[in-house]
Amino acid sequence: MKQIRIAHLSDPHFGAINEGVVEGLLTTLNKLKPSLILLTGDITQRARRSQFRAAKVFTKSLLPTPIIALPGNHDIPLFNLPARILHPYRGFRRLFKDKVEKDYVLHEVRVTGLNSTSRWRHVQGDFNLERITHRLKAPQVPTKIRIVAFHHPMDCAQHVDEKNLLRGRDEAMQIFAEQKIDLVLGGHIHDPFVNLSGQRYPHIQRSIILGVAGTCLSWRTRAAAPNSFNLIDVNLEDTPEIQFTRYDISDRLLFAPITCRKFVRDRSDGWSEIEKCDDPL
Ligand SMILES: [Fe+2]
Ligand SMILES: [Fe+2]
Repeated sequence: MKQIRIAHLSDPHFGAINEGVVEGLLTTLNKLKPSLILLTGDITQRARRSQFRAAKVFTKSLLPTPIIALPGNHDIPLFNLPARILHPYRGFRRLFKDKVEKDYVLHEVRVTGLNSTSRWRHVQGDFNLERITHRLKAPQVPTKIRIVAFHHPMDCAQHVDEKNLLRGRDEAMQIFAEQKIDLVLGGHIHDPFVNLSGQRYPHIQRSIILGVAGTCLSWRTRAAAPNSFNLIDVNLEDTPEIQFTRYDISDRLLFAPITCRKFVRDRSDGWSEIEKCDDPL
């Protein structure tokens, strides 16, 4: 059975982390053996050099697993105005030694990392829709599953987070549907969430899975959402399936599976939820 396992981590906020959680996260990831680690931004608390250095120690300990890291609003300097205007991504680029946006292809799964941050719009981010369309339309090897990831969320569970949803999300969803995207992943609100797109975007014909990861390491947690990450198992059989398992920190400082949702590609080429989850371990 062809399977790809992605560990979706977000918002570690180096500079504001729960030090005691790092070891448990590394141990859990080591046990789960993901094929790819996706880190959807807010890697640091204030984009300081020392915070990027601490993040580098962490990401190095994840090797040799490939990592796609994307910037969050906290990875752009906030108070240092000249740095914010002139080179907002300097610390991020120094850490990851490559582009702010990149693609990764793993068997028949393609992950496209996008930058939703803006030096001017911290809360809601911003998308250059023309550039996004261009990126997603670029000639590609045929893939079975297309994933798009960026920092700002497309959906949320709590009303208070509506103000944090991506600016321009309706237009972005239209593009994702046209480009036959299967899964859209983000972070930012520190409140893990998975849903099908039909509820928030009923006008979009394609049913897309929208996933948000919580904060994997920071003490900036929300009520009922301790440190967590999402494990995404993609089954590439004839009828593809995608399973989301939320892992929360447990009292033993390890991460344990808490909730699970599973989706199957349906006849309309979108996604439907099915009831039974498999044991992720
Ligand atoms: Fe954050
Ligand atoms: Fe954020």
